[in-house]
Amino acid sequence: MYQFDVVTLFPEMFEAVTESGVTGRARERRLFELVLWNPRDFATNSYRTVDDRPYGGGPGMVMMVEPLEKALTAARQRQESAGAKRTHVIYLSPQGKLLKHERVMELAALPGVVLLAGRYEGVDERLVSRAVDEEISIGDYVLSGGELAAMVVMDCIVRQLPGTLGDAESASQDSFVSGLLDCPHYTRPEAYGEAAVPPVLLSGNHSEIARWRLKQALGRTWQRRPDLLEQRALSAEERALLDEYKKELQGV
Ligand code: ADE
Repeated sequence: MYQFDVVTLFPEMFEAVTESGVTGRARERRLFELVLWNPRDFATNSYRTVDDRPYGGGPGMVMMVEPLEKALTAARQRQESAGAKRTHVIYLSPQGKLLKHERVMELAALPGVVLLAGRYEGVDERLVSRAVDEEISIGDYVLSGGELAAMVVMDCIVRQLPGTLGDAESASQDSFVSGLLDCPHYTRPEAYGEAAVPPVLLSGNHSEIARWRLKQALGRTWQRRPDLLEQRALSAEERALLDEYKKELQGV
């Protein structure tokens, strides 16, 4: 069973992952375990203080080292007693390395991860150097805290765990697995006002359908995320399909 431990001031937020949808079902099936740790429970004064003003001045507050380090130690020990030989601590922050599909696959192959969600202006840097193995960002924007980012990391790991998705929804069909965006999808009705379903999808010709889907995936990636195409070599067939897409776009 994959082991998640999360250090957070807002443990109640994580019901979003445990109570609904694919991840909720995966937890019911005991494909992963989640244990939440509140750094307030590891605070050393009677006010349960976990943050303080930044040295050097400036706005906001900084999370203190000691309650966080104690919470992380407890989380690590729990992972070890759950059978994880090596623990991996991830701090979610906009300063981290941008999360990509490849890294998700590597994380999903570990026995588990410890996620640290910060609040306020961030955490004391000494905590990062003492207790964090990896800093991850989920995008170039600033969230009010690391919790949503931690849930994003959890969600994309869980969908890669064997048994989470049925064959019909297999993760191997996801965008980015092939380094491309996904193709468009359609369901009933066949005509919705003026908008019809592309006829090839009604043809029953599976190789034509696969060819059309690959062409759309290539075309959309070229239009929306040209950076992905630069990172990926195209086969001769893919190049021909993309050329076809471009010509169709010009109405040729
Ligand atoms: N915390 C705040 N913003 C974040 C981001 N973009 N990614 C990860 N953690 C964050």
